[in-house]
Amino acid sequence: MKMRTYKNILVTGGCGFIGANFIRYLFGKAEFTGRVVNLDKLTYAGNAESLADIATKAGERYVFIQGDICDKELVGDLMTRFAIDGIIHFAAESHVDRSILGPGEFIQTNIMGTFALLEAARKIHSEGRPIHFHHISTDEVFGSLGEEGFFFETTPYSPRSPYSASKASSDHLVMAYHHTYGLSVTLSNCSNNYGPYQFPEKLIPLMILNMLEGKALPIYGDGLYIRDWLYVTDHCEGIWAIAGNGKNGATYNIGGENEQTNLAVLDALIEEVAKCTGRSPQTLHALKKTVPDRPGHDRRYAINCDKIRNELGWKPRTGFADGISKTVNWYLQTSTWVQHVRSGEYRHWLEKNYGDRQAIAAGKAGAQ
Ligand code: NAD
Ligand code: DAU
Repeated sequence: MKMRTYKNILVTGGCGFIGANFIRYLFGKAEFTGRVVNLDKLTYAGNAESLADIATKAGERYVFIQGDICDKELVGDLMTRFAIDGIIHFAAESHVDRSILGPGEFIQTNIMGTFALLEAARKIHSEGRPIHFHHISTDEVFGSLGEEGFFFETTPYSPRSPYSASKASSDHLVMAYHHTYGLSVTLSNCSNNYGPYQFPEKLIPLMILNMLEGKALPIYGDGLYIRDWLYVTDHCEGIWAIAGNGKNGATYNIGGENEQTNLAVLDALIEEVAKCTGRSPQTLHALKKTVPDRPGHDRRYAINCDKIRNELGWKPRTGFADGISKTVNWYLQTSTWVQHVRSGEYRHWLEKNYGDRQAIAAGKAGAQ
């Protein structure tokens, strides 16, 4: 039995990686009979095509609005027009390297955008109408771990990149609206996601596509940085569990209990790509290339997710080998999606910035 149910959910950033997977997950759940209003600006990372089939199948239960979460008038209008009773907030600038090159958009969308949404929710709350706000955040707000230990919900915040600092700031705003205005909120801090529809600037899809194209596989620094990888649908399940039954005002850690060095991730990808395409593993290994490191690169993330496990019965379901196999196969079979997201602005950005790792390593940002 759910503590909270929703008739009209505003999902922000639903055309991005996790947002699109979440909307797909939601429409696959028989218990959800409501409507989703997807507000997405369609930045370089957003692609409405990721939900083309949902838009057809769900009919009036799915509404797509292209717009900016920072646009207070638009957000206020949507809240009333669609009688929104839940906000699941994904929209963000999400790539650490980009935040090093240009922090401005991160401050604007991640902080000011969250503020605009909170203000809209506060208005509904002050009118005595039901509204719950679930904020999607990251384990990066906790900083970097040494060889031992885990991030708990009680770990003090210590963000170290413009991206994680902007997310930490938005987390604090969400909690402040709960304590000050009594807004009903929950928050989740999740580890690295992977799976279908991830924009190919992030480690896993970038490496898969570079292998397919015979391009270099750029390894930052010594490649021994550790991330805790979670298959994206498992994250979506955790978010839905919290939005339904998470304690008002609580934060929950979500993680894969699956720590891997970047080199180990790369080796798993090489094995799978070789298996699926018949290419020789040796040829793929030869593409590995050490490049200058990311400034302020966090050494290790590891999540303790006992709280969500014990309170809400959630656990990561997808094993790493299975998740990697599904992901590689998805990218192999979805070349049109890949072509579309890599055209236009993305290619332009890559050519301008990404080819030159020295620029990122030196933090030579175009000020925004
Ligand atoms: P993404 O970059 O793939 O997608 C972001 C989406 O937000 C895009 O569709 C983009 O168009 C939209 N967007 C950006 N600015 C907007 C604005 N001003 N107004 C409206 N829409 C806007 O990101 P993702 O990887 O899907 O991450 C989603 C959320 O999850 C983010 O809040 C991120 O911080 C968090 N998160 C991500 C991970 C991960 O591993 N990817 C892990 C933990 C938490
Ligand atoms: O931990 C959660 C976070 O995970 C999310 O909040 C972020 O939105 C998401 O982008 C992700 O951040 P990371 O910086 O960990 O992800 P990324 O895929 O950019 O990098 C993963 C690791 O791989 C990191 O140690 C840097 C390294 N890397 C990355 C790329 C793109 C490389 O060595 N080479 C690369 O080309």
